[in-house]
Amino acid sequence: MRNVGEGNFYIETYGCQMNEHDSEKMAALLEDFGLRGVSSADSADVVVINTCSIREKAEHKVYSVLGKLKSLKKKNPNMITVVAGCVAQQEGDKLLNRVAHLDLVLGTHSIAQLPKLVAKIRETRKRFDRVDFSTDVESLHMPAPCKGKSKVCSYVTIMQGCSNFCTYCVVPFTRGPEQSRLQTEVVDEVRHLVQHGIKEITLLGQNVNAYGKDLANGSSFTSLLIELDRLPGLSRVRFTTSHPRDFRDDMAGAMADLESVCQHIHLPLQSGSDRILSAMNRRYKFAEYLNKIHMLRERVPGVAITTDIIVGFPGETESDFRDTRKVLEEVRFDQIFSFKFSPRPGTAAGKLPDQIPENVKADRLAAIHAIQDVITQNYHKEAEGTVEEVLVEGTRDGTGQFFGRTRTNKIVNLAPSAGIQEGDLINVRIIRGLKHSLVGEKAF
Ligand code: 5AD
Ligand code: SF4
Repeated sequence: MRNVGEGNFYIETYGCQMNEHDSEKMAALLEDFGLRGVSSADSADVVVINTCSIREKAEHKVYSVLGKLKSLKKKNPNMITVVAGCVAQQEGDKLLNRVAHLDLVLGTHSIAQLPKLVAKIRETRKRFDRVDFSTDVESLHMPAPCKGKSKVCSYVTIMQGCSNFCTYCVVPFTRGPEQSRLQTEVVDEVRHLVQHGIKEITLLGQNVNAYGKDLANGSSFTSLLIELDRLPGLSRVRFTTSHPRDFRDDMAGAMADLESVCQHIHLPLQSGSDRILSAMNRRYKFAEYLNKIHMLRERVPGVAITTDIIVGFPGETESDFRDTRKVLEEVRFDQIFSFKFSPRPGTAAGKLPDQIPENVKADRLAAIHAIQDVITQNYHKEAEGTVEEVLVEGTRDGTGQFFGRTRTNKIVNLAPSAGIQEGDLINVRIIRGLKHSLVGEKAF
């Protein structure tokens, strides 16, 4: 039998930034444990699939990947297969019963236990599931690894879970209730990352504006931003995701006044119809959302605003959908992420009558894309000739072309120029605005 910490591991990640970050943490844990990361499951002894269940399509992926792992496991019977993330949390031991070649089901609150459980499986050849919400606090407090995917940017989890229960969403079930990390813990972690060369951090949480509410020690999202802004060497702070109901004036003030806080907010609207917003349990009306946008644009000049839209929520009429289209034209978001409603198990909206036919959802999605494509491209064209601060994040695989992002979170591919290095904060003249990105050259 293998020694406990020997061999290669491979992690495949689906879903949101939270999952990407969890995968970075799991990779660091397995490396500390003596395993080596590889870029394909073919040569791995431990394979982790970090899953997403926000929409049905994402959930189906886990089964197709598991199917492929079956033959690999036949060739290498010592291979340990792990399903982590939201599908693991949701399905628990049902997954073990359904998939004979699966060894471990690791819930969203248990990632810190991964090495210990791998060792246990190697020793005993038993199969396990760990999907307890309450017992494992270790995972919430696990710091971001210094050797994450990027040498320049890092995610930092400030809270886990969500207590909002939007009627379409599985997150409160797969990630549990809102739980904030202590402000001192977050600040110490960021200081440590900065000491290791990180220039930009993205604060992660399902509802970052609610940060601190559960702590009852006076910490708030704004107080956290103020503390982080004091750290020398930290150039940029981003955050995601914000809930419109919890986004307040003081947060816009922090965005305006604090030098490190970037001028971008992702503020999911979901629908332009008040009737649908109410059925979604979003707890705001469009007029309230719009007031916050006006306030933001006034206080933070040039702020970029992005959003999420769901089309085909149960009962969405042509008139509701018209409201959403009108709103897109009115607000002019910098970018939107739009989805067809996907009924999720356990959610209130999954059980609603009046589900919208697939072809109607597809037509509505296409209509939304057509509207937004023009708006995004116009923003990119308007940027031509301007000079933007860009943090150089690295080079494109294969081409050696440097890229980075503006403070407003727009990707800029950089024309070749002497003296550009990863981690540089440079002024860049935008020379072309394309559909999905900008092209720029170093401004001297
Ligand atoms: N169907 C479609 N989209 C969904 N989202 C969340 N749940 C669903 C669902 N059941 C979208 C929301 C959310 C984003 C992360 O995913 O727009 O903001
Ligand atoms: Fe899901 Fe709503 Fe929580 Fe966002 S705020 S994670 S959409 S329940």
